[in-house]
Amino acid sequence: MQKKNLDWEHLGFGYTPTDYRWQAEFEDGAWVREGLVTDPQLHLTEAACVFHYSQSCFEGLKAYTTKDGHIVTFRPDMNAERMINTCRRLEMPEYPKEKFVNAVIETVRANAAWVPPFGTGASLYIRPVMIGSGPQIGVAPAPSYTFRIFVMPVGSYFKGGIKPLKLRVSDYDRAAPHGTGHIKAGLNYAMSLYPTMEAHREGFAENLYLDPATRTYVEETGGANVIFVDKDNNLIVPKSDSILPSITRRSLIYVGEHYLGLKVIERRVALEEIRDFKEAALCGTAAVLAPVGEIHTKAGVIALPSGMEKIGEISAKLRETLTGIQACEIEAPEGWIRKIC
Ligand code: PLP
Ligand code: COI
Repeated sequence: MQKKNLDWEHLGFGYTPTDYRWQAEFEDGAWVREGLVTDPQLHLTEAACVFHYSQSCFEGLKAYTTKDGHIVTFRPDMNAERMINTCRRLEMPEYPKEKFVNAVIETVRANAAWVPPFGTGASLYIRPVMIGSGPQIGVAPAPSYTFRIFVMPVGSYFKGGIKPLKLRVSDYDRAAPHGTGHIKAGLNYAMSLYPTMEAHREGFAENLYLDPATRTYVEETGGANVIFVDKDNNLIVPKSDSILPSITRRSLIYVGEHYLGLKVIERRVALEEIRDFKEAALCGTAAVLAPVGEIHTKAGVIALPSGMEKIGEISAKLRETLTGIQACEIEAPEGWIRKIC
């Protein structure tokens, strides 16, 4: 198979239409017309529920080329389960786990020429998405749905690779108490677009959101969870019902405990406590593990001791171990790696 002629080392994080995408439609209580298609366009009615009542959700995972030239993906079953939970909360039909994992594998295999080669630092980003595509004018779920998986080669999500990021604590919330922060609904991202652009205009990479009920505890950013390392080298992981359960974060917890021998503490983390921490990092499929150097708050700047020049020691070990597992250079826990070809 001939790889596409791309500048793999310098890819950004953006959309590139590739050769194939998976499509399935939900009509009269069943998934129909399932399979690979080539057309990147969707033809939708103006009354589609997604346009009016934002009935949409998505997932994100990646495929990698290993040193010996295989293509693998990382924990697709976890994305399948999270999408099922999301769909339940949004009154959307579930795309069954076996179908989801099979569709991911088929779509990546069909686009193998687009999977970045080993050692380029790039990967194939996989975007499953579901929308209420049937007509709906009264406020109610759509009568029919479209599920798609499309893929694109990507590089680093944040410009500058693993240079520490500057965050600000947002005055806005990305989620509501008892709302939808814990699911991957498109509407959560609509909530964060204005604060995200405002943060960028002010020179910050991202917003750090606080718990929407009391604005005391740290939640996450618009597109990644946040983790900390305390002075005793413990991994401190914020816990809240309105944080998206990141698969990267859950994997890093396992890596921290079982590969690096760290003590992991999952608990509520007050904003003020960050002053006592040694390292902070964002984690997610797109972000991988991105170090944080400064957090700007109303009460002043919290400068992490790891600084703005380089990634902290524990964060670096976590990142190297996770990416080593994903590229099959380090043995993975049972079931984490799905070989595609
Ligand atoms: N938090 C938010 C709001 C996200 O959009 C994402 C991205 O998927 C994450 C966290 C990280 O989740 P994961 O590690 O499963 O990609
Ligand atoms: C991901 O990491 O897969 C996401 O969905 C986050 C998004 C901000 C790109």
